[in-house]
Amino acid sequence: MDFKSYIRVIPDYPQPGIRFKDITTLLKDGPAYKAAIEELTTFAKEVNAEVIAGPEARGFVVGAPLSYALGVGFVPVRKSGKLPYESIKAEYNLEYGKDALAVHVDAIQPGQRVLIADDLLATGGTITSTIQLIEQLGGIVVGAAFFIELSYLDGRQKLGDIPVKTLVQY
Ligand code: PRP
Repeated sequence: MDFKSYIRVIPDYPQPGIRFKDITTLLKDGPAYKAAIEELTTFAKEVNAEVIAGPEARGFVVGAPLSYALGVGFVPVRKSGKLPYESIKAEYNLEYGKDALAVHVDAIQPGQRVLIADDLLATGGTITSTIQLIEQLGGIVVGAAFFIELSYLDGRQKLGDIPVKTLVQY
């Protein structure tokens, strides 16, 4: 499927010079959303993922259906200050801005095979912090799956040897 044709590009949002990739136009199309999740599910099976971790908020929209399709658990990686139980956190830089992500200390079991799912790989700041959190808990990051990759920002280089699957590249 030509997933790119379902993604709306919005110039100068949220600030001048940024060409925002809007996935809501893909998500509202049932067959396109389903096909996108199915492609990532195939990848998740190839890397034998035992649990999916998705960074807030759009990572939930990709990661949760992937978990459901695989019949494995889902770990929400949340913006700092949102989790009720004991957590660890990691700061990260966005394409525009800065934030911190957090997970519960018991979210991942040591040795568990974790696939990270998100809508977009841009600078790689979000994925780097997510990897850091998972590895701090003893998890093994076996792959990272995204709808979109902004190749010109070279976020992929931050993933080292971790297998990466992306459906659309810009
Ligand atoms: C966006 C996107 C990715 C991240 C990619 O999330 O959903 O998680 O940025 O950028 P990076 O590779 O440069 O880190 P954002 O932090 O805007 O949060 P949201 O999903 O809550 O809108």
